[in-house]
Amino acid sequence: MRTILITGGASGIGAGIARRLVREGARVVIADTKPAGVAGARGEICDVSDEAQVNALVAGIAAAEGRLDGLVCNAGFMIRKPIAELTVAEWSAVLGTNLTSIFLLAKAAETMLRAARGAIVTIASTRAHMSEPHTESYAASKGGILALTHALAVSLGPEVRANVISPGWINSQGEALAARDDEQHPAGRVGRVEDIASLTAYLLGPDAGFITGAEFIVDGGMTRKMIYEE
Ligand SMILES: NC(=O)c1ccc[n+]([C@@H]2O[C@H](COP(=O)([O-])OP(=O)(O)OC[C@H]3O[C@@H](n4cnc5c(N)ncnc54)[C@H](O)[C@@H]3O)[C@@H](O)[C@H]2O)c1
Repeated sequence: MRTILITGGASGIGAGIARRLVREGARVVIADTKPAGVAGARGEICDVSDEAQVNALVAGIAAAEGRLDGLVCNAGFMIRKPIAELTVAEWSAVLGTNLTSIFLLAKAAETMLRAARGAIVTIASTRAHMSEPHTESYAASKGGILALTHALAVSLGPEVRANVISPGWINSQGEALAARDDEQHPAGRVGRVEDIASLTAYLLGPDAGFITGAEFIVDGGMTRKMIYEE
């Protein structure tokens, strides 16, 4: 049975992707530092920035599921701090979870992904292209994901495809929103986890067979909107 590994699937966008793929009939393994509560998915506690933990996670999938068809690299977090206050340890932690983890996962899973003619989907951010102040480590990690993903597409093809989704504002925690939050988007609303889950499912599937090395911006049009004030 088709097996998909989703990192950071205990909450937010990753949990939405897991729910969607379970519904499609895939076997889903969620790797997160927190316990996952998605019905029908197997949860593993794993810090994806740690090479030994990633290797154990992937070895566990080889033993339990025996195959890996899809790898969704979604785990990530942001530190918002002026660079004068941002420590090297904090910078490294953001790069470790958001970017280095993808290298570790792809390295550990390459053999199974090639055997299954599988696919990788990475989750970057529109912050790979534009910034608010005090987000250097996050922006750098997300920009790195764009480059790492096209490099993987070229190195792992033709057996394995690799694509990156760059979400804009996704209401991943179910916050109460003001009308202005929705109205400022050309699409008329803030994003939902399902907006990312549906594209992830498509990119992992056979209809996306000619798509690799590509970036998909899913932001309701915000990065296409000029914001000069009148
Ligand atoms: N929500 C947004 O608006 C938005 C926009 C652009 C990009 N993103 C990206 O989407 C992804 C998911 O974000 P979200 O909004 O669902 O956030 P979230 O905090 O709900 O989910 C992130 C998950 O990653 C897990 N995680 C963090 N560090 C980890 C580690 N070292 N090992 C394993 N798991 C770890 C967390 O426990 C959490 O469950 C992130 O990569 C984020 O940068 C989110």
